[in-house]
Amino acid sequence: MKALVLSGGAGTRLRPFSYSMPKQLIPIMNKPVLVYALENIVELGVTDIAVIVGDWAPAIEEALGDGSSLGARITYIQQDKPLGLAHCVELARPFLGDDDFVMYLGDNMLPQGIGEIAEEFRVQRPAAQVVVCKVPDPRAFGVAELDADGAVTALVEKPQQPRSDLALIGVYFFTSAIHESVAAIEPSARGELEITDAIQWLVTQGADVRAGEYDGYWKDTGQADDVLECNRRLLGELATRIDGDVDGTSELIGPVVIEPGARVVRSRIVGPVIIGAGTLVEDSRIGPDASIGSDCVLRATQLADSIVMAGASITQVPGLHGSLIGRSARVGPSDHAEAHHRLMVGDHTRVEVAA
Ligand code: TTP
Repeated sequence: MKALVLSGGAGTRLRPFSYSMPKQLIPIMNKPVLVYALENIVELGVTDIAVIVGDWAPAIEEALGDGSSLGARITYIQQDKPLGLAHCVELARPFLGDDDFVMYLGDNMLPQGIGEIAEEFRVQRPAAQVVVCKVPDPRAFGVAELDADGAVTALVEKPQQPRSDLALIGVYFFTSAIHESVAAIEPSARGELEITDAIQWLVTQGADVRAGEYDGYWKDTGQADDVLECNRRLLGELATRIDGDVDGTSELIGPVVIEPGARVVRSRIVGPVIIGAGTLVEDSRIGPDASIGSDCVLRATQLADSIVMAGASITQVPGLHGSLIGRSARVGPSDHAEAHHRLMVGDHTRVEVAA
């Protein structure tokens, strides 16, 4: 089996971050979302992996390299425009040949892994196997309808009156049968070649399409609040590791990771918290639920439930909560007027200030 990981796309819902980086490299617990995806694939014993890249190809190639650090061999495939998930399959045809493959959306998090569902696919070998997850409100998702034997009878996009609560999530298993259906479908109203249309085509042709249920935690990290929720969830599993320096007047409570070269001075850290390599935390209260990247400086600041990316500095900000701070961003007191807020924020940035 091979793997096809989708890491192109526009990422409009993750602006402003997606203006300066691919959304798949947003760090959760200081590791890019995309790396979690690749680790799940390698765990299946699948090492021949193609990664679809768009405008952010150089950044993604720099982060993943040839894949050897993950035990994989990565082939990059350029997609000039995000023309849909099924378009990615079409582009990857020369790489895929007639092999079975797992297709994995590079912004999806499935921390419990997909080993069992992959095994079902290997044993039963239907033409296609979608991965589904029970959701409380299926109306925002593509939904799979199944018969009594668990065969997929229909896929419905964002149904107003859902007949099933099984949402399609970002992993699919395919045999080479998918290539004929990708060639047969037309672009949708939004101009994309939709993978749900391609799978529905298989169902209509009478092919065996199955659904494997993933019952762990799943998150599509397409929006900032989803990224933060996922960060909280993963931090819930954190185990303490102190490789940096913590001075005698600082206090660490609960699970805390301090990476090498990080320094904690006169501060109180309430885990779960991870503090990246080379970061300085001084006179601050951090946590719970915070991931601080490498080479940041946090001074006289209180921060919880947040992600701070590499190289950011935050000074004298009390009560930061639910925040996503981009790389090398600076947050702090005004150099000019004490009584005013002064903002230099990029397009589509969201700033919420306490009343
Ligand atoms: P989406 O999140 O559905 O699309 P998007 O990246 O365009 O985001 P937004 O809606 O916020 O603008 O894409 C799911 C995954 O598939 C994501 O990792 C990007 C990737 N993708 C491609 O690689 N090529 C494509 O043509 C599309 C549509 C998505």
